[in-house]
Amino acid sequence: MFGSKSRTILVGLEAGTSKIKVAVAELDAQGSLILLGVAESPSTHIRKCEITDFEMAQKAIHQAILDAEAKMDVSIGEVYLAISGAHIRSFHSRLALDLGEEGAMIEEGHLRELRNLVRQQALPPGQILLHDLLQTYILDDGTATANPVGLFSRRLTADYHLISGIATRLQTTVHCVKELSLQVKGYALSSYATAQAVLTPEQKSFGAVVINCGAGITDYIVYRSGFVAHSGTLGVGGDHLTNDLAFAVKIPFPRAEDLKKTYGAVDSRKEAAYRRVELAAEGTYEPRFIPMSLIVEVLQARQAEIFEIIREQLEEQPFWSEFSGTIFLTGGGSRLEGIQKLAEKIFDRPVEPARLIPFDGEVSCEGRQDWMTVLGLLRYARILEMQEHGRGRWDRVGRSLRRFFSGFRFVC
Ligand SMILES: Nc1ncnc2c1ncn2[C@@H]1O[C@H](COP(=O)(O)OP(=O)(O)O)[C@@H](O)[C@H]1O
Ligand SMILES: [Mg+2]
Repeated sequence: MFGSKSRTILVGLEAGTSKIKVAVAELDAQGSLILLGVAESPSTHIRKCEITDFEMAQKAIHQAILDAEAKMDVSIGEVYLAISGAHIRSFHSRLALDLGEEGAMIEEGHLRELRNLVRQQALPPGQILLHDLLQTYILDDGTATANPVGLFSRRLTADYHLISGIATRLQTTVHCVKELSLQVKGYALSSYATAQAVLTPEQKSFGAVVINCGAGITDYIVYRSGFVAHSGTLGVGGDHLTNDLAFAVKIPFPRAEDLKKTYGAVDSRKEAAYRRVELAAEGTYEPRFIPMSLIVEVLQARQAEIFEIIREQLEEQPFWSEFSGTIFLTGGGSRLEGIQKLAEKIFDRPVEPARLIPFDGEVSCEGRQDWMTVLGLLRYARILEMQEHGRGRWDRVGRSLRRFFSGFRFVC
């Protein structure tokens, strides 16, 4: 089906706050996605997933691409990009088509009309639509269905989950990548991409939340009945925990980052295991002993605050009181000891570490929570490629976005 003459290589790129990550897979003739590997390089001048120094960020992205090319023995010309940042907004939209007093049979054209209406909706100034994710269609008698084609109704209503972002912020990131002679074939909100790596169709159907604990951003996405019910992006993450620790212990950020990764916990059981931890001498710094209780107290306060903000946002959603799905934690920050228990207490729902749905091939990414977004991008890219090859030229480019970027595509 694919690449009968040459290999179809898919590449996911995440310019995260802490690292640039590149994942590469081969889409074989049967449509299987064979993971070839992942490369990463330290991220510079990217704050909260937004570029603050174009040249420096571009160098870091270039390095990660070169590393991936050398490691996986591929030539990279196209990428799928993960998008995040505190400027991302998500909201719901309900639109309806009147089908006449007598009613009419619903056709594909009606669904396209509704989607066009959604895409023409006015957004706040400077914002562009990133995703328009269909939730459900509703007939005039209240019946909800994912596929109303062939059914009769006098009115067809559609619920969408919409995600938008500030155009100029996205333009900067896209321009940065394009200047490296890389085509941006598509992009996905990072939480949405992450969910493709870790949630099975059953979990999406039963209900699941994925919380991606990154360095500068914590983002989350909620699935219910197989569709995206809600999503959110917070401009706070693991870097804030490190900053708090640096301030409390009076050490520079890099030392605090090491301390957090080695001894960090939000669980007082770790306090009992290590009453004090030794901070070795380094440069002009004398060796010191730090009470474990201080480390736990500082990290717990900030991590709890992040989860509480998410809980407040979820509690505003009408479905949350009845939501009984599992919360899956991922991202580098989810490696903090005791974080599952803390989340369980705050959300009052079962919490588990996210697990990668395995890829085909020999390469394993077990235990790398910080790679889930870029791995999920590959699955997202696969869907787009399958649609393109299955339907011919991809023609779902949103109107508003087309004005800004050329050659982009959307998955809904
Ligand atoms: N073992 C660990 N314990 C606590 N935090 C960790 C650990 N390993 C990584 N982190 C944190 O994870 C964050 C990076 O996660 P990642 O998902 O790579 O972020 P991003 O995609 O934003 O670059 C950093 O804040 C880092 O301190
Ligand atoms: Mg990330």
